[in-house]
Amino acid sequence: MADKKRTLTGDRPTGRLHIGHYFGSLQNRVKMQEDDSLERFVMIADVQALTDNFNNPQKVRDNVYQVLLDYLSVGIDPEKTTIFLQSMIPELAELIVYYSNLVTIARLERNPTVKTEIAQKKELFGESVTYGFIGYPVSQASDITAFEGELVPVGEDQLPLIEQCREIVRKFNSIYGETLKEPKAVLSSNKRIKGLDGNDKMGKSLGNAIYLSDSEEEITKKVMGALTDPGRIKKDDLGNPDICMVAYYHNLFTKPEDVKKICEECRAGARGCVACKRELAKNIIEELRPIKEKRKYYEERPELLEKILKEGTEKARKIAKETMKKVKEAMKLNYFE
Ligand code: TRP
Repeated sequence: MADKKRTLTGDRPTGRLHIGHYFGSLQNRVKMQEDDSLERFVMIADVQALTDNFNNPQKVRDNVYQVLLDYLSVGIDPEKTTIFLQSMIPELAELIVYYSNLVTIARLERNPTVKTEIAQKKELFGESVTYGFIGYPVSQASDITAFEGELVPVGEDQLPLIEQCREIVRKFNSIYGETLKEPKAVLSSNKRIKGLDGNDKMGKSLGNAIYLSDSEEEITKKVMGALTDPGRIKKDDLGNPDICMVAYYHNLFTKPEDVKKICEECRAGARGCVACKRELAKNIIEELRPIKEKRKYYEERPELLEKILKEGTEKARKIAKETMKKVKEAMKLNYFE
């Protein structure tokens, strides 16, 4: 076991996961399960979720179970991946206290991901951001280092957080002696999926997402409202699939030979948008069917969900405790036990 590399990833439970997550990170996590040289951890980051949802604890609580269902339904297997809950590991909070001495406020303010998020959250934060939110990179550094996560599979937006974690690790080791492991980000090769409205990002807060748990009716309704070539008004106008979100999603959900035909017909004005959207909705529903069936299985077994989360968290906590012990020794805080 000792020579296995640990991987750690996680999601804030602020909403259900959507097909952007599916292509962007979830499929990647499932694929990693085949690699025997890895020991995998996935964290439901409910403490981090509270940094921008402190006023809505019920939302976070509900979404802990939704995200767990999302994980299990796409095939993240608790036998192969330890799924755990951040708030049930107090060592993570303890590490934050010590790491916070190793980070300056100016450095936190410069973190590009945090900066962008603060700008997006004006409504919540007004002119002055909370200590908790500006400090969440420290919390994330604690998540990663507590499990000696060597590899952190993430999307590009998370790179500044991993970089900041690496800086904290180096600073810690240089002051207190070689103790923490410096993590590496592993960029998932999958691209970011655009929203139904053509926005560069499919986002929980943007209202442009298809969720893994959406019903057939919801999927159809959303696809029917997706952005198409705005220049195409009548069915026999010549269309441009390059600027059509329906064509974009056909590329993800439809057989390549069918996509080719669809695009040719669209360019020739021989295929209407409505038929094209119906076909796409059908294909998305087909692809998500096994995922939805698995979700239903777990939804009907709340005691099993509880067990998975509890056992995963117990396993993760053991490791966090070992790291805590090393950290306290290094910091000369190993008094009595
Ligand atoms: N910041 C991540 C997100 O917003 C969630 C997260 C919390 C995370 N802790 C982590 C990701 C540790 C990777 C490693 O989705």
